[in-house]
Amino acid sequence: MSAVSQSSRITVPEIRARKGVKPLVCLTCYHAHTARLLDEHVDVMLVGDSVGMVMHGLETTLGVTLDMMILHGKAVMRGSRRALVVVDMPFGSYEESPQIAFRNASRVIQETGCNAVKLEGGARMAETIRFLALRGIPVMAHIGLTPQMVQILGGFKTQGRTAAEWPAIEADAQAVSEAGAFAVVLEGMAEPLAAKITRGIVIPSIGIGASAECDGQILVMEDMLGLNPQPPKFVRQYANLGDDIAEAVKRYAADVQARRFPGDENVYRMKRAG
Ligand code: KIV
Repeated sequence: MSAVSQSSRITVPEIRARKGVKPLVCLTCYHAHTARLLDEHVDVMLVGDSVGMVMHGLETTLGVTLDMMILHGKAVMRGSRRALVVVDMPFGSYEESPQIAFRNASRVIQETGCNAVKLEGGARMAETIRFLALRGIPVMAHIGLTPQMVQILGGFKTQGRTAAEWPAIEADAQAVSEAGAFAVVLEGMAEPLAAKITRGIVIPSIGIGASAECDGQILVMEDMLGLNPQPPKFVRQYANLGDDIAEAVKRYAADVQARRFPGDENVYRMKRAG
């Protein structure tokens, strides 16, 4: 049976209608427990292909597969009821042709039950975005610093630092908006360019390292919770869970070493006879 079901989740048209009205709160999420915690507070949960680096220890997102995205997409859907869930299309699953993109994106939607997919690329992906959107697959676009192009870009570098770079990136934004994307992620982008793009398109821009000029923000959840020892410079940390976990595990180890096994001691007692 298909995983797709009707629910009371935030919808794609509701996200699109937030343009210029109320900033969109977005975070990445890869597993069920955290999805449960985030659900009440965010508009969009992105099962990003950053999962490869954050949860699987890869150096880039290039090694992430469709099966990995589907596995994590299912987990996030099981853990949430309200937020719109978007699943990233991994490298190699959509670039070749609109038809292949449709085949793989429809698999993601059918097997996870998620609401939309995200793919990287501007003008060069416009035809694919249009093909998917016209066939019932909502697409979130992603331009600026696109991590799947890391080998071509020569690293994770902010885009649009010089005015000469602007026209191509602005054209990317217009192209994905006109092709039918319902929102666009602007990653690693100079503030004046992000501001100009946001003013110039009819769909919400969702920034990551692209300033408060965007219509919303997305962060990698582990970065803002202090679980990444080397978070990007633009990330504000709202907790220090890395230190909290290390301290908790230290105390646990001390308990076990001292045979103070945690838990309800009643569990271990024998039942009285009779
Ligand atoms: O994979 C991801 O986490 C992303 C965000 C950085 C937008 O694409």
